[in-house]
Amino acid sequence: MTINEKIIDLRSDTVTRPSNEMRAAMSQAPVGDDVYGDDPTVNSLEERVAGLFGKEAALFTPSGSLANQLAIRMLVSPGEELICETNSHIARAELGAAAVFSGITTRTWYADRGLLKVHDALNLAKPDSGPYLVSTTAIAVENTHNFGGGTVQPISEITALRSESTKRGLAMHLDGARIWNAHITTGVSFKDYGENFDTISVCLSKGLGAPVGSLMISTKERVARARVWRKRYGAGMRQIGILAAAGHFALDHNIESLALDHKKAGTLARACAEVAPSTINPEHVETNIVGLDLTGATCNASQFASLAREKDLWISALGPTYVRLVTHRDVNNLQIERACSILQELLQSAFVAK
Ligand SMILES: Cc1ncc(COP(=O)(O)O)c(C=O)c1O
Repeated sequence: MTINEKIIDLRSDTVTRPSNEMRAAMSQAPVGDDVYGDDPTVNSLEERVAGLFGKEAALFTPSGSLANQLAIRMLVSPGEELICETNSHIARAELGAAAVFSGITTRTWYADRGLLKVHDALNLAKPDSGPYLVSTTAIAVENTHNFGGGTVQPISEITALRSESTKRGLAMHLDGARIWNAHITTGVSFKDYGENFDTISVCLSKGLGAPVGSLMISTKERVARARVWRKRYGAGMRQIGILAAAGHFALDHNIESLALDHKKAGTLARACAEVAPSTINPEHVETNIVGLDLTGATCNASQFASLAREKDLWISALGPTYVRLVTHRDVNNLQIERACSILQELLQSAFVAK
């Protein structure tokens, strides 16, 4: 593995590369044809992850987007409605997949930092609205909330929403691409998260460092149906035990160390707040994502990101005045220190020198 240490890549935790140890584990994995259900490493990963969340079954998918889309499809019929937060990945970053592939309507509520509040979801939900209005059948919750800045959803809100949703006959889906990070911050067990949702998606390819791999988790019946749809979408895969082995390795070795990523994010946030307090409240940085609000700066987000790139710091501009920095296992503490100086210098000229 070679990492160009000159470049500090904080665009996303998806840029993490498999370590040498992970690659060694992949090379040793027993494999078989997964479309026939013959790959022992995939089968054991699916069983393991389902068990971790207290569910009956799981399905390996090549991406988190597909895991989300298969899950949603199992909960919402064509012409029915899914509701979620405006800036959730399902609404903003899956390119209309729920509508395109599954005929699902989506409506959204807005929440500052994506933070879940029971009444926001319930005020929007309109179950049994037919025959003139669209009926809501499911609510999706993202934990942690990516575009909200790695926001952890309080378990008290999740359980309250679950109990109100059940009364109204509404299903719940968890986009848990980074549920690992939420677990590290809160100590809430995966089973406690799991029991509040009908379907769950998780990603192994983000902070956990696997090159590929997500899972859709639910009942045996839904997972069996999702398996058919995965094949129909052309994502039936063959000897992918080598990928599942990376997933096993990630679960064995890379969950606890997410705490280090959270620490690095806190360091970045404090450095930015020191120079430009309006850009970030460090107390809101609970996991590995730092969202900077550049409102009032002399440059917009994409100009700011370009200036950073000139200094070998790669970050994402996600809105006119919003940039995102994501820490991960492939950025070391020295690089974080350098990133802090670069950001302070840029923020100084974007705000203080105005
Ligand atoms: C919250 C969330 N859900 C789902 C996904 C989709 O994952 P993938 O890129 O593997 O499709 C992402 C990707 O970054 C994400 O941040």
